[in-house]
Amino acid sequence: MTGTDPVRLSADDWDEMTNPRPETCDFDRVVEQGLSRRGLLSGLLAFGSGAAAMAAGLAPLRASAGGARFAFTPIAAQTDHAVHVPEGYEWKVLIRWGDALFADAPAFDHATGGDAATADRVFGENTDGMESFVVDGRQLLAVNHEYTNRDVNLPHSEGGVPAGLGDVRKLQKLQGVAVMELREGAAGWEVVADSPWNRRITHLTPMRMAGPAAGHELLRTRADPSGRAALGTLNNCGSGRTPWGTYLTCEENFNGYFGSSAKAEDQKPLQLDRGFARYGIGPEGWGYDYHKWDARFDTAQEPNEPHRAGWVVEIDPADPESTPVKHTGLGRFKHENAEVVLAPDGRVVVYMGDDERGEFLYRFVSHGRNTPGGPTDGLLDEGTLYAARFHEDGSGAWLALTPETTGMASLAEVLILAREAGSAVGATTMDRPEWVAVNPHAPEAYCCLTNNRNRGLKPNAGGDATPVGGPNPREANRYGQIVRWRPEGGDHAADGFAWDLYVMAGNPEVHAGTPEAGSANITAGNMFNAPDGMAFDSAGIVWIQTDGNDGNDGDFAGMGNNQMLAGDPVTGEIARFLTGPRGSEVTGLTWSADRRAMFVGIQHPDAPFPDGAGLLPRSSIVVVTRRDGGRVG
Ligand code: FEO
Ligand code: CA
Ligand code: CA
Repeated sequence: MTGTDPVRLSADDWDEMTNPRPETCDFDRVVEQGLSRRGLLSGLLAFGSGAAAMAAGLAPLRASAGGARFAFTPIAAQTDHAVHVPEGYEWKVLIRWGDALFADAPAFDHATGGDAATADRVFGENTDGMESFVVDGRQLLAVNHEYTNRDVNLPHSEGGVPAGLGDVRKLQKLQGVAVMELREGAAGWEVVADSPWNRRITHLTPMRMAGPAAGHELLRTRADPSGRAALGTLNNCGSGRTPWGTYLTCEENFNGYFGSSAKAEDQKPLQLDRGFARYGIGPEGWGYDYHKWDARFDTAQEPNEPHRAGWVVEIDPADPESTPVKHTGLGRFKHENAEVVLAPDGRVVVYMGDDERGEFLYRFVSHGRNTPGGPTDGLLDEGTLYAARFHEDGSGAWLALTPETTGMASLAEVLILAREAGSAVGATTMDRPEWVAVNPHAPEAYCCLTNNRNRGLKPNAGGDATPVGGPNPREANRYGQIVRWRPEGGDHAADGFAWDLYVMAGNPEVHAGTPEAGSANITAGNMFNAPDGMAFDSAGIVWIQTDGNDGNDGDFAGMGNNQMLAGDPVTGEIARFLTGPRGSEVTGLTWSADRRAMFVGIQHPDAPFPDGAGLLPRSSIVVVTRRDGGRVG
């Protein structure tokens, strides 16, 4: 985040700015507990060979980064307009917004940012979550296009405000998902234009609604009286992949695209439908102005259309003709990513964060079991959705969301208004849960809690208190932390878990001796704020990406631009691996099948990245390789 230009922020920051919350609340504040409240995890569970080291929790940790498990020398914070990687590594741009996926798309035009007709024939805007697939021996990449920077994408439009349906269509086509084939040529990794697997999925692509809420009256519209045939996927943030080789794209700040043509009467606020306030759906939206040109986004005409977004969507990258599926069984909220892991008995477990201040962490457990090569229909539809409760003693529980536990009318209603369901069971209000990642070498999961300026000060949008404590230990949390949990018996389908904090970000230079300094594994050499994207590599190193304040001053002095760091789950060491260009968020991460290439997303960079002075800034995927050809994770 750099400044407050409303169309140059991350989607998360923009949603925060445009989604005001109540100013007061009267819950009792819990006393700041900091890091010394208890012996984390001790004696609660035993699992894995690293149990002894992990049971020690946050302390003591070695203060120096760059230990033996990291195959690189950490780099310093940076404030320039380039990407930086460690010595022995190199990076290059793989693809940028506007680069052709199909030969019929024209070369990118910096004067116009491209036209509406071909906006779905090019790589879309604001790359985010991505996953790697191998189909018929080809290396495919599926990647999200989260939102648009309207001032950049509509350079001729006053303030980036669409001037007509053509502008709206262009924006709608620049977002969604891309599937594309990659190959390694003489000049390194490149996108294969016109590959038969190349595909763009946009705000206009036909989708099927599946699961317990499909067909419910809250999902029916004039265009789709069945409530089973949605159009488009909105604000595609983080990603996931299933054991059966499909891509999961997660709809996050979908609220921003909707507006209302209805006018408030007699100075009274506009009456909004149930759930609209909780989900941040208001009369103006974010200024996309879709609702002025496309009636589908006008909630005065289509009050149920917002219920058809906020889901996890499954896409088969191997079949470009397949219809994407919105899985209502996974609940409707502002989905960050969807981390899938199999329970020992083959049930499918999906961990999911709801990125909003004071919202919840969720888990889905399927009723059916996955078997290699077996049927997969229904595995993401029939199951139980849960929300997490964290206790002060380091234990926690998954609370089932059902009509019985919530008092809501039906399972469909529970899923469509999942936030209300989480409130009804008393789930723990969290500091904006972003990505969840599961360690492939130990039964544990991590979630980035990016920050929360309301912690301890204001309730969430549903009126739930946000007391300081548990995994959210700092008032007005400005730096963020990463919570991790280990399921009972090493079974991700179990209902109990033990938790601790893997790291609390902070600034030990500015706030030495206070909780704002961060945990012991934060040093002057690895400072960051706002952990967000996250993924484990095959060696069990967790990679952490940031979407924070890159002003490099005040509370954030010494942190530099947004970045990507590597973390050792056993020792707690954290080392900076990559820095993004100024203004950008580093988000989205995956690897080539041979692990010799790492693909990293650079979202909403400032000019002149990547093309140079006087040209439009373009979000890009960069590919990082080792000069010696070795593996990068
Ligand atoms: Fe799209 Fe919460 O990040
Ligand atoms: Ca994010
Ligand atoms: Ca974020």
